[in-house]
Amino acid sequence: MLAVVNYPLDWLEERSGLIGGLRYFLFRKVPSDTNWMQTLGSATLTAFLVQAITGVILAMYYKPTPGDAYKSIQNITDDVTLGWLVRGMHKWGASVFIILMFLHMGRVFLFGAYKYPRELNWVVGVLLLVMGMMEGFTGYLLPWDQTAYWATVVGINLNGTAPFLGPWLAQFLRGGQEIGADTLTRFYSLHMLLIPGAIFALIGLHLYLVVRLGVSSPPWSKEAAGMERDGHPDKPLRRGLTRPAPRPAGGRD
Ligand code: HEM
Repeated sequence: MLAVVNYPLDWLEERSGLIGGLRYFLFRKVPSDTNWMQTLGSATLTAFLVQAITGVILAMYYKPTPGDAYKSIQNITDDVTLGWLVRGMHKWGASVFIILMFLHMGRVFLFGAYKYPRELNWVVGVLLLVMGMMEGFTGYLLPWDQTAYWATVVGINLNGTAPFLGPWLAQFLRGGQEIGADTLTRFYSLHMLLIPGAIFALIGLHLYLVVRLGVSSPPWSKEAAGMERDGHPDKPLRRGLTRPAPRPAGGRD
């Protein structure tokens, strides 16, 4: 039985090293005093995956033209099996995703987890935040009802007031002089291709940096930067990039 399970895994490992990589990811060491608040990043990731899956299902039925968009949304809600559920999950899930992203960012800020050496991951996080908000903005137009239309008018006009780039930005978002068929297809393409693709890539980079730098300890941790180990003053502090130290001349120690 064991051989049946192991054979394909060994086959894959020998040719790709993927199993070893996965094992490293799952069994890597994290500080012993990590906190429930540090699950907020994974919660955000879960919310994003729910959006991706429900979004793909919706895209199978949604039609991005002014004549069909609203009707196709009605069809999804009223006729397609469990369409109301998938649409509801996507619609409410969008808010859950944004709220979790802000809570995760708040946790990182309050724990000081953005400090050296994690500044770059904070910057990647800010890009994720911007992309997440743009997902919300572009998705809002898609039902093509009165709320969607006028909310987009307000959003585009707001962007249009930005200094220098404003008029260009508004023109780009509209895809012409007025909001119409070109705006809808443009928002659809941004919403279901470009922005989710960018988010997937940025999450990959974000998680790579989380694994490479290690998860930080909470600020009250006895093991955190510069603190003595509780009851073991002789034991060296936890090694690794989690403890700020003067940078050695020849690179990392
Ligand atoms: C799609 C959105 C995001 C996802 C899926 C995501 C996911 C994660 C995960 C799984 C972790 C490791 C566990 C944890 O500390 O919670 C993490 C850590 C981190 N995230 Fe995010 N994150 C997102 C957005 C953000 C944002 C908006 C910021 C800040 C502007 C940010 C900054 C950081 C930093 C600095 C860390 C390292 C924290 C540490 O080592 O303690 N992330 N993220």
